[in-house]
Amino acid sequence: MKIHIINGPNLNMLGKREESIYGNSTLATIEESLQMKFPGISFSFFQSNHEGELVTYVQNHGEDWMVINAGAYTHTSIALRDALLSVRAKFLEVHISNVYARESFRQQSFLSDIASGVLAGLGASVYEIAVHYIYEKHRNAHG
Ligand code: DQA
Repeated sequence: MKIHIINGPNLNMLGKREESIYGNSTLATIEESLQMKFPGISFSFFQSNHEGELVTYVQNHGEDWMVINAGAYTHTSIALRDALLSVRAKFLEVHISNVYARESFRQQSFLSDIASGVLAGLGASVYEIAVHYIYEKHRNAHG
């Protein structure tokens, strides 16, 4: 099976960015670790700081499951929401930090109500837990 791991703006700065909130793992480390822990899954990794590039990527991959950390676009992007709706995307929304324990503007998401689930505040392990969930769901559905 194929899973797209999609990261939005500033997630390329993981490891250097506000470590007390986001930890020390880099995006490359997180991606390598997923690949190692789930050898049976074909991953596509995509990160962009540009809203339109995220929209286009989603439009082109609606047939597969996605794990999306849209960063700040989570709280602002109707365009990303519309792209997900346009391809009836199956996706989990993830956040490294506990967005509910932070500024009030982070408590609004344009994605949560159309996501299959939301994970937040468990550090970089949100990616792994999300993939595990999708993998198990797929295994149960396909025997
Ligand atoms: C984030 C939370 C967002 O509010 C923030 O803008 C990010 C990262 C997280 O992973 O905790 O860039 O999505």
